[in-house]
Order: sequence, then C-alpha cells, then structure tokens
Amino acid sequence: MAKYATETVTEVKHWNDTLFSFKTTRDDGLRFRNGEFIMIGLEDEPRPLMRAYSIASSNFDEYLEFYSIKAPNGALTSRLQHLKIGDDVLIGSKPTGTLVPDDLRPGKHLFLFATGTGLAPFLSIIKDPEVYERFEKVVVFHGVRFLSELGYYDWLSEGLKNHEYLGELISDKLCYYPAVTREPFRNQGRLTDLVKSGKLCKDLGLPQLNPETDRAMVCGSPAMLQDTCDMLNELGFEISPKIGVQGDYVIERAFVER
Ligand code: A2P
Repeated sequence: MAKYATETVTEVKHWNDTLFSFKTTRDDGLRFRNGEFIMIGLEDEPRPLMRAYSIASSNFDEYLEFYSIKAPNGALTSRLQHLKIGDDVLIGSKPTGTLVPDDLRPGKHLFLFATGTGLAPFLSIIKDPEVYERFEKVVVFHGVRFLSELGYYDWLSEGLKNHEYLGELISDKLCYYPAVTREPFRNQGRLTDLVKSGKLCKDLGLPQLNPETDRAMVCGSPAMLQDTCDMLNELGFEISPKIGVQGDYVIERAFVER
C-alpha cells in the first residue's frame, strides 16, 4: 500500500482568524477507529510535509474531516490554511492512537475533556453509536481562551441532536459544556479548576468525578494534558498504559511533549 493517498478537498470552513476545518474525499480502503490520528500534509521538496492530525469525522462518514489552527509560522498550517475546494491533500495510510473508547473500562459517565483543537477526536467519537450504548451520559467539555474559538458550537449545541440517525439515541445522553477563560461567558475557567471546585459536575447535575463510575478521555496542549492527568490521578483514576489495555482514562500519547 502506498505511504500516502492523494485526496481532494471538498469543504473548507474558517471559524475565525486562527481556526479552520476542512473535509476531503476518503479512500474506500482507509479504515480507522474513532479517536485515532493520521499523518496529513502537502507535497514538498525533498519530501512531503506531513503532521499528525486527529480525524474529526467518524469511521462511518464517507469523507475525512480535520480541525486545525492557523499558525502563521507553522510549516504546514501556514500553507494548509489556504486550502480551497478541489485542492489535493496527502493522507497517510496508517491511522493509529491511544485515544480510543475501546481502551476504557466499562462505566456510567464518559467525560471528553478537550481544549483548543483537542476537540477534533471527540467530534469523531460523539458520532459513534456504540459510545451511547456503553455510557449513560457523554460529556463534551471544550475549553478555549476566547468565545470565537468555540468551533462547532452550533453543531454541538443543537445540530448533532437533530441528526437523522443519531438524534434520538443521543439527545438525553450528550452534554456539551463549552468554557472560556479570557472573556466573560456563562461557563468561565480552566477545566482543572472547574473540576476541582465541583462546578462542572454541579452544572451538569452529575456527582463529582469518581473512578467507580466515570471514565475520561483527554486531548489538549502538553501542559493541559499534564495538569489533567495529575488531577485525574489524584482523584484515583488509572490511565490506560498502552493501546489495547483498558484504564479509567486515556490520552493521546503522541501529542505529549517529548
Ligand atoms: P488560559 O486562558 O487560562 O491559559 P491554549 O490555546 O493555550 O491551548 O488554551 C486553550 C484553553 O486551555 C484555554 O482556556 C486555556 O486557559 C486552557 N489551558 C491552558 N493550559 C491549561 C492547563 N495546563 N490546564 C488546564 N487548562 C489549560
């Protein structure tokens, strides 16, 4: 199998000056698990310029979707942000990752903790009917600095609940909790503070996080990952140590700073 497939951009959405998402065609042969990442990029010399991106579409969507920052000095994103419908994008052939629901022990409430573009893998996971069969509540926490960074807000608030097939299954189960740190908003503060103070669970009408009943998946910056892992460990949660071994929570290990 070739290392990279060439796919075509079918949709581009700019959320604000710093964030955009895009969809591409998907090779019939590309299989992945919801929550995994894949290498994507552009042709370059002497070799293609590729970076790891979480797949934001689910494995039964006919397209691939990605959610990205626009870093002015980022080697890839400075170019990717100019993508237009019809452009070519290179897509790797080996999706992988540790942020998969299979590696969570059974539980009652699933907390998906994201900051920034760390939301992407959870956009995939919350479209997976199996997740709603396994959990009574699925909470999507999305923390950002500014309101304009709450990408997918309308879809998460309303759109998904009206989904033709999933709507009924998820309407009582999915809870979206957007939070902003640097301007006024109804939910204000960092994830770690909102959990430790008990505010997040109180607002959701759930008991405080507890490894007996709750499971978590975490995706964000290296600092956020570190602080969230510390917090969950203090609460008695056990991390899944590697792919295929279940734990009370999982993180994307490829995104941890090395
Ligand atoms: P803050 O505004 O207090 O830094 P970033 O764009 O830096 O990745 O941040 C996205 C969101 O994640 C912001 O709301 C930011 O809060 C928050 N954040 C940054 N670092 C951490 C951390 N170590 N733990 C929890 N939340 C964090």
